Amino acid sequence: MSSVPATGPATRQGASDAIPAHVAIIMDGNGRWAKARGLPRAAGHERGVEALRNTVEAAREMGIRCVTVFSFSTENWRRPTSEVSALFGLLKAYIRRDLARLKREGVRVRIAGTRDNLPEDIAKLVDEAERETAHNSAFHLTVAFNYGGREEIVRATQSLAGKVARGEIAPGDITENLFSAALDTRDLPDPDLLIRTSGERRISNFLLWQCAYSELVFSDVLWPDFDSEALRQAVAEFAGRERRYGAVTAGAS
Ligand code: IPE
Ligand code: IPE
Ligand code: MG
Repeated sequence: MSSVPATGPATRQGASDAIPAHVAIIMDGNGRWAKARGLPRAAGHERGVEALRNTVEAAREMGIRCVTVFSFSTENWRRPTSEVSALFGLLKAYIRRDLARLKREGVRVRIAGTRDNLPEDIAKLVDEAERETAHNSAFHLTVAFNYGGREEIVRATQSLAGKVARGEIAPGDITENLFSAALDTRDLPDPDLLIRTSGERRISNFLLWQCAYSELVFSDVLWPDFDSEALRQAVAEFAGRERRYGAVTAGAS
């Protein structure tokens, strides 16, 4: 199985300080983008898929190795059924249309989130995307769909508790590394940079465990307008940050 070496937060081997190895993105603002144009919200989501394609391409060109995007949260079920259906339809269309190309380009695709309550056709497509790209390692695209950070942590805890109950591990064997390996992002390094678009400044239940030491960048751009220039700006802001991981500033006495 191909994987990115899961570097701990204090060691960023393989990544220059200027280019993050792993960028996580909360793709927000599709509805407002559509509203500003008098269009239905679904039109904003459609344009959002285009922005995703462009952003992944720009990220690869910049030397970023992993991108993880938030595309449907466990809380997004609270939206009108028609909007939920539109979002499910877009995921299906994206996988159907882009899977062959992603596979050819060496992209490993993962879908983070629970498969419970996913319609069967989507669950099948998602399995197919993961299976077909499992041997790729040039770039890692993870789509968080039907994903909630707390749900993921609870699911990981249930899986570890099951191992303890079956006598496969002892409670004391559960370390941070073992816990990370029980999450949907196993094999990926923690995000160096988390970008949220649309001016909102909250995490909204995304990658709660993994973003312990991520640098947060908030962009006012609405997601459908996000492009390579917006990504470059976010990465430039990241490059200007000093990551300390609880230690003192380098060179301080
Ligand atoms: C992000 O855009 C996409 C999803 C959450 C599925 P929104 O749909 O949240 O857009 P706004 O925040 O209403 O503008
Ligand atoms: C977060 O955006 C979820 C996704 C981008 C998929 P939301 O628009 O759902 O978040 P809130 O409701 O503003 O916190
Ligand atoms: Mg939103």
